[in-house]
Amino acid sequence: MSHRPRRVPAAERNRSAILEVLQKVLPPSGTVLEVSSGTGQHAAYFTPELAPRRWQPSEFDRALIGSIEDWRERVPSARLLPPVTLDARDPVWPVEETSPEFPISAIVNINMIHIAPWAACLGLLAGAGRILPPGGILYLYGPYRRGGIHTVTSNEDFDRSLQARDPQWGVRDLDEVEAAAKGEDLLLDQVIEMPVNNLSVVFRKPA
Ligand SMILES: C[S@@+](CC[C@H](N)C(=O)[O-])C[C@H]1O[C@@H](n2cnc3c(N)ncnc32)[C@H](O)[C@@H]1O
Repeated sequence: MSHRPRRVPAAERNRSAILEVLQKVLPPSGTVLEVSSGTGQHAAYFTPELAPRRWQPSEFDRALIGSIEDWRERVPSARLLPPVTLDARDPVWPVEETSPEFPISAIVNINMIHIAPWAACLGLLAGAGRILPPGGILYLYGPYRRGGIHTVTSNEDFDRSLQARDPQWGVRDLDEVEAAAKGEDLLLDQVIEMPVNNLSVVFRKPA
């Protein structure tokens, strides 16, 4: 049965700028695993534009799996796979056995690491380290501190509001994320400035 898929305004606003970067940085084939797909609207928007790649949505919040399914119904593409439940902190993810024909070549994570405990960021990096093949990429999108400080006051205000909602949340420092990624054999490849003081951050598994 088809429902009304959920939409959040932030994903409507950032999707075209993110797509432009993904088209440049994603490996040309394979399966893209999206960690924390949220409503599923990014998956539905990106999949038709990123052929021949397949898109594997996933979500931690089971209440959102139905919305991702609803978006899937609107995108008549066999390349948009059924969503799976995935907690980035888990030591093994339910996608580690992929079809050899369509291996996971990239992992995409949009606006999660600041709206989750630091353990979720560490789990994401560990999972990317385990799953990505040599040359595979991990793409992150969101706001960051640089060198321990906020780059703009709006991000500082946002950070304060996140921490008021949950003291474990907060805008992460890019240096700290980079150091943790290095421990998982992921090297910082590109940092791209995005609208409204967000960054696209690309890590690469050495070839
Ligand atoms: C602000 S939403 C972003 C969702 C979507 N990527 C977007 O841009 O619309 C943050 C997401 O992080 C997910 N999340 C929180 N903790 C997580 C964890 N431990 N593992 C995976 N996802 C998590 C939440 O369920 C939520 O979907």
